[in-house]
Amino acid sequence: MHNVHVIKHPLIEHKLSILRDEKTEPFHFRLLVDEISYLMLFEATRDLPLRKVSVKTPVAVAEAQKLDAKIMICPILRAALGMLDSVFKLIPDASVGFLGFQRNEATLEAEFYYAKLPADHKERTAIIIDPMFATGGTAIDAVNFLKQKGVEDIRFLALVSAPEGLKRFYEVHPDVPVYTACIDEGLNENGYIVPGLGDAGDRVFNTQ
Ligand code: URA
Repeated sequence: MHNVHVIKHPLIEHKLSILRDEKTEPFHFRLLVDEISYLMLFEATRDLPLRKVSVKTPVAVAEAQKLDAKIMICPILRAALGMLDSVFKLIPDASVGFLGFQRNEATLEAEFYYAKLPADHKERTAIIIDPMFATGGTAIDAVNFLKQKGVEDIRFLALVSAPEGLKRFYEVHPDVPVYTACIDEGLNENGYIVPGLGDAGDRVFNTQ
């Protein structure tokens, strides 16, 4: 799984330990999802291209660099909405391409129900966001969808991942890098990540 990037940082570890705690309240949970996503996005965008620009400072002209990529953030509804604010803080002119999947609780597989992409999506670098990379089913379908729409540069950002899901994903999409804060032990019989943090959507939106 050469394309998985586990982003290790003391601040991320610390915040993740509070995020996992079942006693953490929804308000604090949302704040932590936002903060961890913010820290991770820094790494997930490290290789974005730059172009040279000249900027006039109050003192002289400086040779500087600006981003040479148009970004499209693709939150997988609904839990990833908790990660969206942090992305906008760092990349305020990103477009958003919503991807609606929901888990069929009988098959544990993702079912597609909605998408809304910007018109120029083919020219954009897509960063798919989802707090949990569990069975890999949603991730595979989301990347399939974007590839079918002609998107070429795709990356995936997930807070917590399961090895089974990553393995399955890389059999289909070896070209797509996954950035994650940790790879947990595995999945339980309900498709939940163990130890994980429970249902991220429910904890973000207080719908438990
Ligand atoms: N989705 C979640 O929110 N949590 C899991 O553990 C797995 C999928």
